[in-house]
Amino acid sequence: MKRFIFLGAPGTGKGTQASVLALKYDLPQISTGDILRKAVAEGTDLGKKAKQIMETGGLVSDDIILSLIEKRLQEADAQKGFIFDGFPRTIKQAQELDALLSGTDGISGVIYFQVDEDEIVKRLTSRRTCSQCGLNYNIITDPPPTDLKCRVCGGAVIQRDDDKEATVRNRLVVYNDKTAPLVKYYQGNDKLYTVDGAQPVQIVRQKIIDYMNRF
Ligand code: AP5
Repeated sequence: MKRFIFLGAPGTGKGTQASVLALKYDLPQISTGDILRKAVAEGTDLGKKAKQIMETGGLVSDDIILSLIEKRLQEADAQKGFIFDGFPRTIKQAQELDALLSGTDGISGVIYFQVDEDEIVKRLTSRRTCSQCGLNYNIITDPPPTDLKCRVCGGAVIQRDDDKEATVRNRLVVYNDKTAPLVKYYQGNDKLYTVDGAQPVQIVRQKIIDYMNRF
């Protein structure tokens, strides 16, 4: 069973790779960021709780995230494995995930995307996202159509609120404080595979495929 975690700072390419590899391996891409953004757009209770935290680049509480993951893991498609994109993000989330998977083979591997901070800021401030289907564009490397309508679904292509520079910088501070310790956590469990995420998208993808094929 393929159960993978894509770990890394914001903007290192987790979502870009997860969306394609989920299709390749017929696994669900479970992105807590996408789940939360959908809840915000729909104005649900969860969305109301998450909105302001996300806009300032903080982390939504572990309890909220864990209850959401526990439910998501019960869905039929998650029984064949998964790619977690942006979860876990704290040591507590990682420990609780291990507890949720106890009695199984657990996590197959953790792919850690390494990119330096200047490149991350450049990528995120130039990222544009379809507000409907979530497809990512980049005004430098992969510009959206000039009418700002998504080339796949026709939705409006926008800049995420949390991709403004001040918020990106705060997200990096939060990442270094709360999420970076997971690198050691998974290294200790001998699960970590580090990929140089600054390489071109296709090269990064091939390295991850070579790794995932071992499982
Ligand atoms: P989330 O949506 O998970 O944001 P993130 O982790 O900050 O991830 P990003 O989507 O910004 O980056 P990415 O690594 O996926 O990069 P991408 O592939 O898009 O979370 C948003 C918020 O929700 C959080 O701040 C938090 O508030 C909350 N949240 C979510 N999960 C939570 C949790 N578990 N606990 C608590 N709170 C949670 O790529 C970025 C850009 O770079 C794109 O433009 C892309 O085209 C480009 N790019 C990608 N790869 C390359 C490459 N190799 N070369 C050049 N450009 C590239």
